[in-house]
Amino acid sequence: MVAAMHERSDHQPSDRAITESSARSPSGSPGEFAFELNNISFTYPGGVLGVEIEHLGIRRGCCTILLGANGSGKSTLLKILDGLLYPQKGNLRAFGESVTEKRLDEKDFQRRFRSRVGFVFQDADIQCFSPTVRDELAFAPLQKGMDERNIDLLVQKALSTLRIESIADRYPYRLSGGEKKRVAIASILTMDPEIYLLDEPTANLDPATEGILIDLLAGFAEENKTVVVATQDLMLARHIGDRAVILGPDRTLAAEGEMTDLLDRSELLASAGLAHYHRHPHRKASTHERHSHYTEDDSG
Ligand SMILES: Nc1ncnc2c1ncn2[C@@H]1O[C@H](COP(=O)(O)OP(=O)(O)OP(=O)(O)O)[C@@H](O)[C@H]1O
Ligand SMILES: [Mg+2]
Repeated sequence: MVAAMHERSDHQPSDRAITESSARSPSGSPGEFAFELNNISFTYPGGVLGVEIEHLGIRRGCCTILLGANGSGKSTLLKILDGLLYPQKGNLRAFGESVTEKRLDEKDFQRRFRSRVGFVFQDADIQCFSPTVRDELAFAPLQKGMDERNIDLLVQKALSTLRIESIADRYPYRLSGGEKKRVAIASILTMDPEIYLLDEPTANLDPATEGILIDLLAGFAEENKTVVVATQDLMLARHIGDRAVILGPDRTLAAEGEMTDLLDRSELLASAGLAHYHRHPHRKASTHERHSHYTEDDSG
């Protein structure tokens, strides 16, 4: 069964009631993983496999990059982690607790879970609901019961960080793709979750804004926030990723490990559709050959 996208009212204040003790692993030791997936399988209506994962642990305090070709299941996996899609098979644990459709139906659990996990959708059109950008950014802190003055300060800071002050009073739906993406990123800044899930966050961003995002994500790493980013952008992956999860074309886990190790495995990257080969017709005839572009040094 497929979960509907969660209602906006699900984003509720954090009462931190998923406590430190419940954030520990079943053995009682401090939880190493923010998320643990075991024998997970999700199939969309109509029978298309979304993703299938035997075992995966997403480490706390790390920036994990989800890599894979188009259609390899990255967005599906992120939605599973955010409790937006419920796998038909297997078990998901977050903060050491089992996350099931039944648990997420419990208002209290849902509120706590949603306040700890922030999600930037690949499609920014489905992220923003408020009449103005400013209202959108104020939504989460307002739900937390923050006072008006502090909300204003927080909103102003997020507007300034993403350089969107000039569109603060505009209707989000009528913004350009990149502007919407900036608003979506700013809105999880004001939400201030423990875990950031970002689906193709650099898509549609101009290079200057991409730089701002890289700095932001690097800042999260310094604060030991848990960040999971789905991207095709291997440069971004190299800049910010501690660990990588690679999904293969069959939508199963192809590899998981340290980012630097995996980015050196050119055959693995090629088989996962992460290296590209193309002609360089603008160059001299002698360079009309195929090149790969999967590492920073390979300027092709
Ligand atoms: N709503 C849906 N209904 C049916 N099938 C879907 C739906 N959403 C995704 N799929 C299918 O599930 C598989 C995984 O899709 P997913 O969106 O997770 O891939 P992705 O790795 O995020 O791709 P991309 O890089 O293009 O964003 C694909 O085969 C896709 O066609
Ligand atoms: Mg996707």
